[in-house]
Amino acid sequence: MQKIINSMVVNISGDKNKQPIIFIHGFPFDRSLWNNQVNLLQKDYYCITYDIRGLGSSYVGDGQYTMEAFVSDLYSIIGELQIEKPVLCGLSMGGYIALRAVEKHQRTFKGLILCNTKSTADDNSGKLIRAEKINQINVDGLDAFTEEFVTGCFAKESLKDFKEIVDLTISRAKQNNPLGVKGALLAMLSRTDTTEYLSKVQIPTLVIAGAFDKLTPPTVMRDMADRFKNAEFAITPRAGHLSPIENPGMVNDLISGFLKRRIK
Ligand code: MLT
Repeated sequence: MQKIINSMVVNISGDKNKQPIIFIHGFPFDRSLWNNQVNLLQKDYYCITYDIRGLGSSYVGDGQYTMEAFVSDLYSIIGELQIEKPVLCGLSMGGYIALRAVEKHQRTFKGLILCNTKSTADDNSGKLIRAEKINQINVDGLDAFTEEFVTGCFAKESLKDFKEIVDLTISRAKQNNPLGVKGALLAMLSRTDTTEYLSKVQIPTLVIAGAFDKLTPPTVMRDMADRFKNAEFAITPRAGHLSPIENPGMVNDLISGFLKRRIK
């Protein structure tokens, strides 16, 4: 079932009486990033995916976004669907949203799954790289930016072995509105750092890295996982920054194993 909530496109599948999981995609992707996980998990869980404001088919508006507004959007979906105690599962920018949502009100959630993400905010050089990317979109256009950025997200092996998936992911990302993509870059540039909060997280947490992730390398993710009192950590082989689509079998096993063991 598809719904429009607060001008975002939301997909819902599975039985409403089962444990809800909200999947939050990364930048500059859309809700289809989680198709492989939802296809498996919808038998046993109530699965919600949505397009973040400004990306995919969601409303773009003026492109003036903050991470805080993205978090409010997430809470508006939870409120509208009257979901009790969801598990949050976020990849990269989706992880930034999930971490800040948990920092804001941990008791809303039953568990946390963080894929290919980090808790630290952009440092000065990171901010300058974001500014360069916004400029690249203005000067060279969204297609050139998307081609380069999304290609860099995949492991070398995936570029070679899963060309169809790579091409499909790039062509989907090229459908985005440049205003929305630049707005998301600004929201990431100005986000807060959630590292200090990690040791206060009580809910069961799973941290999944990609062995060949250049954006959020396994070492960075292990350091983050170590800061939680009680997190599990796993490295997905044969995956770069997009482990749910580069190695869906492994990510599905990790997520379903975690849910069965830790989410009662
Ligand atoms: C993402 O996949 O969401 C982005 O790579 C995150 C980022 O650029 O910080």
